[in-house]
Amino acid sequence: METFQTLLANKFSDALAKAGLPTAGELTPATDARFGDYQTNAALVLGKQRGENPRTLAEKILAGLDVSDLCEPPTVAGAGFINFTLRSDAVAKKAGELLSDERFGVAKASSTKRIVIDFGSPNVAKPMHVGHIRSTVLGDALARIASFLGHEVIRDNHIGDWGTQFGMVIYGWKNLLDRESLQRDPLAEIVRIYKETNERAIGDPQVREACRQELVKLQAGNKENIDIWNECVAFSMQDFDHVYRLLDIRFDIQCGESFYNDRLPAVVDRLLKSGIAEISEGAVCVFFRDIPQLADKPCIIRKRDGGFNYATTDVATVDYRINDLKADTVWIVTGAPQILHFRQIFEIARREGYKADFRHITHGSILGEDRKLMKTRSGENVPLRELLDEACKRARKIIEEKNPDVSDADKVDIAQKIGIGAVKYADLSQYRMTDYVFSWDRMLSLQGNTAPYLQNAYVRIRSIFRKSGEPAPKVDKLILRDPSEINLAKRICQFAEIVPQVLNDFRPNILANYLFELANSFHTFYEACSVLKSDEPIRGSRLALCDLSGRVLQRGLDLLGIKVPEKM
Ligand code: ARG
Repeated sequence: METFQTLLANKFSDALAKAGLPTAGELTPATDARFGDYQTNAALVLGKQRGENPRTLAEKILAGLDVSDLCEPPTVAGAGFINFTLRSDAVAKKAGELLSDERFGVAKASSTKRIVIDFGSPNVAKPMHVGHIRSTVLGDALARIASFLGHEVIRDNHIGDWGTQFGMVIYGWKNLLDRESLQRDPLAEIVRIYKETNERAIGDPQVREACRQELVKLQAGNKENIDIWNECVAFSMQDFDHVYRLLDIRFDIQCGESFYNDRLPAVVDRLLKSGIAEISEGAVCVFFRDIPQLADKPCIIRKRDGGFNYATTDVATVDYRINDLKADTVWIVTGAPQILHFRQIFEIARREGYKADFRHITHGSILGEDRKLMKTRSGENVPLRELLDEACKRARKIIEEKNPDVSDADKVDIAQKIGIGAVKYADLSQYRMTDYVFSWDRMLSLQGNTAPYLQNAYVRIRSIFRKSGEPAPKVDKLILRDPSEINLAKRICQFAEIVPQVLNDFRPNILANYLFELANSFHTFYEACSVLKSDEPIRGSRLALCDLSGRVLQRGLDLLGIKVPEKM
């Protein structure tokens, strides 16, 4: 089933060909609804290219364009924009087809990719904090959308479970561990010993050296140290898993840094042999002398002391993902500070001859109300677990005020959907590169572009059916009379245009904003048109339209990883 946009674009490019003109410009949704539903700047672009009057060109193109089955006669506006307004019977027909389409018109991608998505990727021996929300939630939404579009998706949690911090953790474990605290709250105790060791190490070169020794022993496979490390990883994973359960996030594989450990020597040897890497001041480095922005930024893949680092591991991930997992596409979701790192890694991959499509999907930061990086009052990172618990607690309060009759069991479930949904949506509705201020009041508000607002629209629709006591009627045709009704049906038809767009530049906010507009269109319709009290066949058609709106909202939110309650 093709979208209006595609149908119009195809017909339009035929008309261009008929007029002897090359394809030009774009056919997009109208920027201003007063001018119609779609517009194209083709005549403007061609006019400029050919030094001809765009309005004259527009008329010439329109002479050979027949879109009468879809639109009112197209018009030329301003300097030469061509505007299209959909006919309401065409809208009714298409929306009618969507009633029985589980995909709501969203086509599968024409070429299926095998995509590894590396997202979340927290570090062991540190609790997940608020900073991890973005990569986790963004990566999950992209994975959901890519799967829905028919791609093969491998979700990979590249956990930071190896590296210099373990020298300190093991030293702390041996010298500072309090077994009782470990029993009570393992991760908090591991974080405590890590921090305390770190502080000692700063002031005491002997502690520093001892930590280094512990790390060397760990890397050499010393049994005692490996056991401690294993235990720390297991405790951290428990904390991560708790958070992932709350967030309803899953991974297909969790190949953390340690997974690549024994592959690192071969990586370095290979890069040296191929001449991609060279020895510089005792370290093994890759230079990018031909790339101006990287010319003075070599990538070290083996330190002077023989140790490997973050970059070495990431070169190894490239091999594994392409050769073993057979991916043709790799998406890595992290904060913007890693931009340089991944430019280097991708450039090394290119020099090694890898042809896959590597993308680094970056995001900005979450700020506190003071517009600085969000921290607790004592200046610590905010643990994600606490933050999510707080979200559910606050959501529960809202339900208690709004609908005191909800049973206790339902309250827990609904509060989780609303609380977690609010946190996710606050993130996903922003352009990923924008820093945003974390505000409970804003994200949990029932008004505005928030998850609770969208969930509430869904709940409102469900309550229509609870009130009517009947399921959505099976109609095969929609009857659209009221402008608000036509407008709502048009919005629903746009879903199939919006979803694939998200992946163009990895912007789930496009989908979020669409859903917000869909909910607004629904509310406008519901205020303007009576549903249950109208006469047949209008009543059946309107009920079907309500149901369809609800299902599109639900599906769209699901693609963002957000659940909808049946009541709230
Ligand atoms: N653990 C890293 C961090 O917290 C993110 C890892 C991203 N993925 C990768 N392949 N390097 O910053």
